[in-house]
Amino acid sequence: MAILITGGTGYIGSHTVVELLNLGTEVVIVDNYYNSKPEVLNRIKEITGIEPTFYEVDILDKEALAEVFNKHRIQSVIHFAGYKAVGESVGKPLMYYKNNIAGTIALLEVMEEAGVKDIVFSSSATVYGLDNPSPLKENMPTMDANSPYGYTKVVIEQMLRDLAHSDEEWSITILRYFNPIGAHQSARIGEDPQGIPNNLMPYITQVAIGKREKLSVFGNDYDTHDGTGVRDYIHVVDLAIGHIRAIEKNTEKRGVKTYNLGTGIGYSVLDLVKAFEEANDITINYEITDRRPGDIDTCYADVTLANEELNWRTEKTLMDMCRDSWNWQQNNPSGYDNLDAVTE
Ligand code: NAD
Ligand code: UD1
Repeated sequence: MAILITGGTGYIGSHTVVELLNLGTEVVIVDNYYNSKPEVLNRIKEITGIEPTFYEVDILDKEALAEVFNKHRIQSVIHFAGYKAVGESVGKPLMYYKNNIAGTIALLEVMEEAGVKDIVFSSSATVYGLDNPSPLKENMPTMDANSPYGYTKVVIEQMLRDLAHSDEEWSITILRYFNPIGAHQSARIGEDPQGIPNNLMPYITQVAIGKREKLSVFGNDYDTHDGTGVRDYIHVVDLAIGHIRAIEKNTEKRGVKTYNLGTGIGYSVLDLVKAFEEANDITINYEITDRRPGDIDTCYADVTLANEELNWRTEKTLMDMCRDSWNWQQNNPSGYDNLDAVTE
């Protein structure tokens, strides 16, 4: 029996595939390469020694998706495929609603037809919106997501709860990620943002390598210990392992379960800059600029539920995250495009 990974050549998907293959689990990946590259598959093979089974399929294409279910005995699905750029979603809401929501509906319909009723879904801390206080708990209200991207997650979560309610055969786990950073310790897979990075860590690594002149720190007048925004950064490998625990739990229990995946610790922008400098013995050029519209002071998780019910705990430190992000950037200065990069 195999686990189907949608979006499995993306940032979080590829790290999860590596962890699953290392455990000897059979994996089938579908991805349309909208935001990833075929080279990822070579890197996964380098790390694990296993060539992953891959189909270039758009999840909106139900026929192609159904064929994958016909060819393989799929036990569960981990559903990463989706668009994720918050700013872009404000300008292109229909594109986001179509891909993320219609894509998930297509996937769920194909799963239902194939009799596979076991899914782990990538949600986001963005569903907590602007008003819930940290530490954020799974039972807090999730109505004000603050962007079309965020609303796609709110809607899909609700759809999954309704589905579980309508048919008790479904086993569904919703995972709300906080801020994934870092890369595999081999530095062979990592985050490969296209264009100017929106998120903090890839921006820092691009400043460090000289691609960008300096980091803009978006505001230092927040109600936090140093005035800069506080977030819950989680190493992508810890996050990947969270999916394995969730898949194991899914087979034990039906219905729907929701878990925060974070460390439970909040660090500010300047904490992260300092940690990066210390971990890598490098100076990051930065300036304080205006706040970014829509940003909140503080966002970190209460991870009690995932600790207790999934028996999952993060192991990597902020230093690990900074070191691994930098190793990935240094070894792959142009991400997966740079096939000649020195790798030792
Ligand atoms: P990513 O863009 O690196 O990976 C997503 C993958 O899905 C890409 O490889 C892309 O090509 C693929 N994809 C997109 N639409 C598709 C479609 N219609 N059919 C087939 N493949 C498609 O993103 P990621 O950072 O790995 O995020 C994975 C999931 O986790 C996403 O759903 C994202 O919204 C969610 N998430 C990410 C973060 C984060 O900070 N990275 C935080 C919270 C939640
Ligand atoms: C982003 C997403 C959010 C998603 C989360 C996790 C936005 C608006 N929100 O939020 O929906 O759930 O990632 O993936 O994109 N910062 C700077 N300079 C920069 C970049 C960021 O100072 O160049 C600051 C931000 O103001 C924030 C912190 O760094 O305080 C983290 O920013 P970012 O990495 O974009 O993550 P989130 O804001 O948490």
